Amino acid sequence: MSFERDDWDSIYRRRSLDQLPWERGKPREMLVELVESGMIEKGRALDTCCGAGTNGIYLAEIGFDVVGIDISSKAIEISRKKAEEANVQMDLRVQDFLVLPFDDEEFDFVLDSGCFHHVAAENRTTYIEGVHRVLKKGGKYFLLCFSHKNGPGWNQFTEQQIKQLFSKHFEILFIKDVEFLEGDLVYRFFLNSLMVRI
Ligand SMILES: C[S@@+](CC[C@H](N)C(=O)[O-])C[C@H]1O[C@@H](n2cnc3c(N)ncnc32)[C@H](O)[C@@H]1O
Repeated sequence: MSFERDDWDSIYRRRSLDQLPWERGKPREMLVELVESGMIEKGRALDTCCGAGTNGIYLAEIGFDVVGIDISSKAIEISRKKAEEANVQMDLRVQDFLVLPFDDEEFDFVLDSGCFHHVAAENRTTYIEGVHRVLKKGGKYFLLCFSHKNGPGWNQFTEQQIKQLFSKHFEILFIKDVEFLEGDLVYRFFLNSLMVRI
C-alpha cells in the first residue's frame, strides 16, 4: 500500500521536522562522500522527492543547479523557506514523480533519497523510464531505498530486485547495505546504489 498526496501533506502539516523519521537535519552521508570524491559531478540535478529540502539545499550550496519536486505542498513550502534561509536558489515544485515535466536528457544527476520505495509496484516501470528519460546519457542516479532486511513488505528490496528493475536502463556501479538510526529512533536497513544512465 502506498501513501497518497493528502497523506503526505498531512504528515508534513502535523509533525515537526524532528519528528520525521527520514529528516535527519543533514544531507545523507553517502551522497556527501560521492560528491566529495568526484563520483557525482556538479551539474543540473533533480531531487525526485525533495521533502524538506535538506539534500537538495546541500547540493545547491556547493554549486549544483537543483530542481526539487515533491507531491506535498507543505513539504515544498518548508523547502522554499529553508532554501531562502540558506540563501540558495532552487527550483522547487509541487509535482508527482510519475509525471516529470522536463526535457529529455535535461539533468546530469538524479537524486532519489527515499523516493523509489514509495512508488507503487504497478508504477515502477513508469518511474524508472521517467528518470532514465530526463537524465543525460552517462548521468548518475543515486538511490537510497528500504532493504528487505527490514522484513517483508512491498517496498523493501533485495540487491537482486534492484538489479532486475534497473539494469535495462542503467549500469549499476555499486549496491551497498547501509543502516541508520532514523529520526523516530528506529534502526532501518537500506540499499544505497549509484548507477550510470545507459
Ligand atoms: C521518505 S520521504 C524522503 C524525503 C527526502 N528525499 C529525504 O531524504 O529527506 C518521501 C518523500 O516522498 C514524497 N512523495 C511521496 N509520493 C510522491 C509522489 N507521487 N511524487 C513526488 N513526491 C512524493 C513525500 O511527500 C516525501 O516528502
